[in-house]
Amino acid sequence: MNNNNKTIIQIGSHVGNTINDPIFNIVDDNTTLILVEPIPFLFEQLKNNYKEKFGNNQNIFFINKAVSNFIGEIEMTFPSEKNDFSKLPFWASQLASIDPYHALIHNETLIVEKINVKTTTINEIVKEYSITQIDLLHTDTEGHDFTILMNYNFEIKPKKIMFEHRHMDGFCNVGEKYIELSNRLLSLGYKKIDQDIENTTFQLIDKMDLTHRIKFIKESNLEDLEKLIKKLGSNTEISSEQPKMDLTRIKFIKESNLEDLKNHTYLEKLIIKLGFNTEILREQPKIVKDNGGGLLIWQYPNQFSKYLCLLSEQKISSYIEIGCRWGGTFVLTNEYLKIFNNVNKSVAVDIIDSPVLNYCTLNNKTQFMKINSRSQEFKNYMNNNYFDLIFIDGDHSYNGVKNDYEISKNSGKIFVFHDIVNSVCPGVVNFWNELKNNEKDTYNFFEFIEQYEDVWNNTHQKFLGIGVAIKK
Ligand SMILES: C[S@@+](CC[C@H](N)C(=O)[O-])C[C@H]1O[C@@H](n2cnc3c(N)ncnc32)[C@H](O)[C@@H]1O
Repeated sequence: MNNNNKTIIQIGSHVGNTINDPIFNIVDDNTTLILVEPIPFLFEQLKNNYKEKFGNNQNIFFINKAVSNFIGEIEMTFPSEKNDFSKLPFWASQLASIDPYHALIHNETLIVEKINVKTTTINEIVKEYSITQIDLLHTDTEGHDFTILMNYNFEIKPKKIMFEHRHMDGFCNVGEKYIELSNRLLSLGYKKIDQDIENTTFQLIDKMDLTHRIKFIKESNLEDLEKLIKKLGSNTEISSEQPKMDLTRIKFIKESNLEDLKNHTYLEKLIIKLGFNTEILREQPKIVKDNGGGLLIWQYPNQFSKYLCLLSEQKISSYIEIGCRWGGTFVLTNEYLKIFNNVNKSVAVDIIDSPVLNYCTLNNKTQFMKINSRSQEFKNYMNNNYFDLIFIDGDHSYNGVKNDYEISKNSGKIFVFHDIVNSVCPGVVNFWNELKNNEKDTYNFFEFIEQYEDVWNNTHQKFLGIGVAIKK
């Protein structure tokens, strides 16, 4: 496959040349295009429409399958060819869905049929077509977009992802799944750039951007400050999503007595008082949902309290957290470590802006670094620095965790991995299991993976999980 040109993957292509298709009119003869459409009669029209307009383009590939989170077969219900579509709204033939009621809810007069179609996954498509870059991934699958995108391993990160959110949580319903997918994309380094009634678009934050912009500062003369600020640009989408952290709650840690701080039952209650991340996820138990705010900690108190007890027994004078998000875990960990040790360096790292910056500005020996942990700059930084405790909670893909571990494994003593049992982070789960199997001689391993019954009853999935590897 030719990789120098733009590559677009579209899932749920329908027939291509309709008024609401975002792809057909941006294709040219150099675009590499993968078009996926499961319904045979639409698939034939799709091929004809593209061949008619882009007959010279040898890089358009058609896949007559449905995309899902497994390879096999699935039943779909679709508006039959027997309908007189000329007398129906333009979208009437666009309602093929895995949900058997989807088409009929839109229009009960439609004639519908059922068909068993073969399924594939985005991972499989990327492998099969040897894709090394994706400029745009577009999904429009009448309610199946969440399943498709959550299954993708993001080893190749599309520069833009546009998906239909309209039926993500049931017919015309946007809810927890939408929030979960959005948070996954944010955690992978995307920002939301658009949302209309049907579709949401996320864009990958350009990792070169920061270095490039720092150059402007170096080259600027301070009198031109106003011009400089404009050139640097403001990241409004992300800043506006940043919640406020209430640092006054740190007093609950400082006021605790030393013996209590070694007791996990006490710590569990303390963490609840400190307050949690308010981004609502399916993984949150009631105790977390009811205590949003404060330090905005993204942890399960029943896991993190026991993890802190383990830390209280170690000698730790430096700490780095890769992927600090709002910084709740960073502030709690740093304040906790300070009770037991003389901490001389704590660094919070994230690819996005974070309210933890306020804490770092107010506290000596702490620093917030806005940087991509996959960058050469960060690799150099880790080569030249050493931390007793390294907490890895950034890019949760297999390659992301592997990168963060590989660049820091010679620069630390205690390595902590977040999400080691999280069913929505299979990359971390696999990496942790491999490390445990392959590095038995190097580390002692500890796991804090207790779950909450209410979450289990609602989802039948496991979440979070803290894995600690301490050098022998
Ligand atoms: C799950 S959140 C971290 C939560 C935080 N540790 C806590 O406990 O509150 C993951 C964070 O990793 C950041 N991230 C993702 N990829 C990254 C990368 N390559 N470099 C740095 N940060 C990254 C995301 O921006 C996101 O804020």
